[in-house]
Amino acid sequence: MNTKIIYWPKGGNVEKIAEKMTTKLNGVKAYCVEELDFNMLSDTELLILGGSTVGADHWNNEAYPDAWAMFFGELKAKGISMEGKKVALYGLGNQVLYPSHFVDSMKDMADAAISTGATLVGACANKDYHFDASEALVDGQFVGLPLDEDTQASKTEARIDAWLKGLDL
Ligand SMILES: Cc1cc2nc3c(=O)[nH]c(=O)nc-3n(C[C@H](O)[C@H](O)[C@H](O)COP(=O)(O)O)c2cc1C
Repeated sequence: MNTKIIYWPKGGNVEKIAEKMTTKLNGVKAYCVEELDFNMLSDTELLILGGSTVGADHWNNEAYPDAWAMFFGELKAKGISMEGKKVALYGLGNQVLYPSHFVDSMKDMADAAISTGATLVGACANKDYHFDASEALVDGQFVGLPLDEDTQASKTEARIDAWLKGLDL
């Protein structure tokens, strides 16, 4: 399956995980969403989108521009449909410091991805995480892969491996 990893922001855990995935998925490349050439999307069958939750109310907060909101806004503005494509999400968060908003942003990304016509894949079981609430939980499952490099880094490797295996690339 023609796969691309698209991530944002740069320079932190999200980028580190994108790079880690490229080493696991031979030949799959990772691109920062700010540097993406939209033409590259045309032959892509699976998009792995990675982001983090930074601030509970950031997604549509104009005072804190989010490159994901801009990406999805631009897709819409350019009239690019993602119908027939699959989207899988991974999201960085911190369940100890933010137990009431753990990886909330994955839900925003899931909603935005679905609104483009894409099929969301890669839901993840709520297993071995410890938090109070997350918007990214739908019908008891996470809409993508939650990763917590701040407090559960030792679980990251196995979580990624199991998740990528489930994507059936
Ligand atoms: C200001 C700030 C707010 C954050 N808010 C949340 C949050 O609401 N929910 C959550 O799960 N993690 C939250 N985090 C944790 C980050 O998502 C986590 O540290 C992540 O690994 C950051 O990845 P990045 O540096 O690539 O953006 C927050 C971190 C910061 C610095």
